[in-house]
Amino acid sequence: MRQRHYFGTLAEIQEGRFTIREFGNRSVGATLHRGKLIVVLNFCPHAGAPICSGKIIPKQIFDASHELTLDAELPVLRCPWHGWEFSLENGRTVVESRLRLAYLEFEIDEGSIFVMI
Ligand code: FES
Repeated sequence: MRQRHYFGTLAEIQEGRFTIREFGNRSVGATLHRGKLIVVLNFCPHAGAPICSGKIIPKQIFDASHELTLDAELPVLRCPWHGWEFSLENGRTVVESRLRLAYLEFEIDEGSIFVMI
């Protein structure tokens, strides 16, 4: 059964990096994406890396002539172990895969964040 855990204050959470907290044997990361709070399990669905310690980078887009463009509006989280990239928009891998980040429910109460795990 899931329980409500105090994560921290909203003021502690930054855009572009994850703040990580431990709850028993569960590790959880929170970041802001376009001002919206995202809370995920700190566990890569590929092979279990602490994915929230990876870098948040602009999505790389190659056009038909193989020119590279970086799209900072669609940042991805790059896993520190094997480099898989996950969209912060929906948690899906950038390459075709059914694997996705595990988003967690949360509540914000007077500036305090509570996660349900
Ligand atoms: S463990 Fe994350 S890409 Fe392999």
